[in-house]
Amino acid sequence: MEKYVIKGGKTLSGEVVISGAKNAVAAILPCTILSDEPCIIENIPNISDVTITLQIMSEMGAKIRMLNKTTVEIDTRPLQNIPVPYEKAKLMRASSYFLGTLLGRFHSAHVSMPGGCNLGDRPIDQHLKCFSALGAEYEINGGMVNLHADKLIGSQIFFDKNTVGATINGIMAAVKADGLTIIENAAKEPHVVDLANCLNSMGADILGAGTDVIKIRGVKYLHGTTYSVIPDQIEAGTFMAVAAAARSNILIRNVIPKHLEPITQKLVKIGVQVEQFDDAVRVIGGPEYVGTSVKTNPHPGFPTDMQPQMAAVLTCAKGASMVTESIFDNRFRYVDELRRMGANISVEGRVAVIEGVERLKGAPVKATDLRAGAALIVAALGAEGVTEIYDIFHVERGYENMEVKLRNLGADIQKVDEPDPTAEEKALKKAL
Ligand code: EPZ
Repeated sequence: MEKYVIKGGKTLSGEVVISGAKNAVAAILPCTILSDEPCIIENIPNISDVTITLQIMSEMGAKIRMLNKTTVEIDTRPLQNIPVPYEKAKLMRASSYFLGTLLGRFHSAHVSMPGGCNLGDRPIDQHLKCFSALGAEYEINGGMVNLHADKLIGSQIFFDKNTVGATINGIMAAVKADGLTIIENAAKEPHVVDLANCLNSMGADILGAGTDVIKIRGVKYLHGTTYSVIPDQIEAGTFMAVAAAARSNILIRNVIPKHLEPITQKLVKIGVQVEQFDDAVRVIGGPEYVGTSVKTNPHPGFPTDMQPQMAAVLTCAKGASMVTESIFDNRFRYVDELRRMGANISVEGRVAVIEGVERLKGAPVKATDLRAGAALIVAALGAEGVTEIYDIFHVERGYENMEVKLRNLGADIQKVDEPDPTAEEKALKKAL
């Protein structure tokens, strides 16, 4: 397995360019299955979730052609509606999007229950509620979700819970249904809006994405498009946390500052300086921070995907901080790893209380999931001494060339091969 070896304490400088958004491209690539013509998707990040998604689509018969490192041409006209297998689907949560898109095109779908980061209970009841409302029947058999609908009819859907995945799946299943679908209590994340904009560029009729109520009027035909994925809000936020932890001054380019507002506000509150430009932010960290409270919420609240990285910064803020995770049952698995670096954190249910320490110390730690790994990188860059981060395949699912981007900022980071891959990494390598 591979690990990062990071020597902390170096002052970083320069600039970093943010890649396309993982959670937007995770929906936009499969949504091309709904198109009746070839599509070109630009600004896609080079991450394993994208590789796996394109592999699944290719194995189903789609014609996939990389036009350059970040642009792919996809022709899904020859695609066959074959089952999406467990060994691929278990590697990422976004495999659930094949349910909505295949149902929307073929009126049936056979997809393994999704995988992804272990953040506690992650049911798909709201996805199934949405598909049923549109006229589909479902059964779960042997870990496979099987959907079938004689026809899809527009309907009114009220989500019991604010869910990104079910909102995205609902949009994709409804785009070619007969009549009007209204989704209420819809997720408002930037990647939901990006998907809707992409589908509308193909001739879909979606109104209200980014608000609580999304209206989708079914259309018969979707033409091709050339669509560029938005910059990754969470990658940008992660590099903002990097600048804060490393007490450094870095320019973060190719961002949408509005998407970063909840993160900017919290960093400024603890003592970080943030300058906003049209498509960039400059983050000036240090010299010291004051503790604060952070509560994750659906967009435009503080994003749950930035919770671990923010906690890593708060480990060295003066006084006490409180981090409340209101989206997932168990998104504190990284805390044990930060404790190995000297962090003083106590966790009670969905609340972590952090007592600031002077400085963390390098230690061998392991990434327990994607954003946990990002948090350990943030912590390691500000820590004294050397940190080894194992199981970095989690990180590479969602961050393109992380160690290259950090090295270009002056970080002392190496990616080193280790002999014995873990079972999880073996599975990922086999799938790739
Ligand atoms: C998406 O996951 C993201 N993943 C996650 O990012 C992100 O943390 C999450 O949205 C919230 O913003 C992708 O986009 C691929 P949810 P998703 O459905 O869709 C519960 C990362 O780090 N729920 O909004 O799975 C669920 O258990 C990853 O990039 C139900 O109860 O999240 C959770 O508590 C991690 N029933 C809450 O809703 C359902 O049917 C939010 O889940 C669906 C969800």
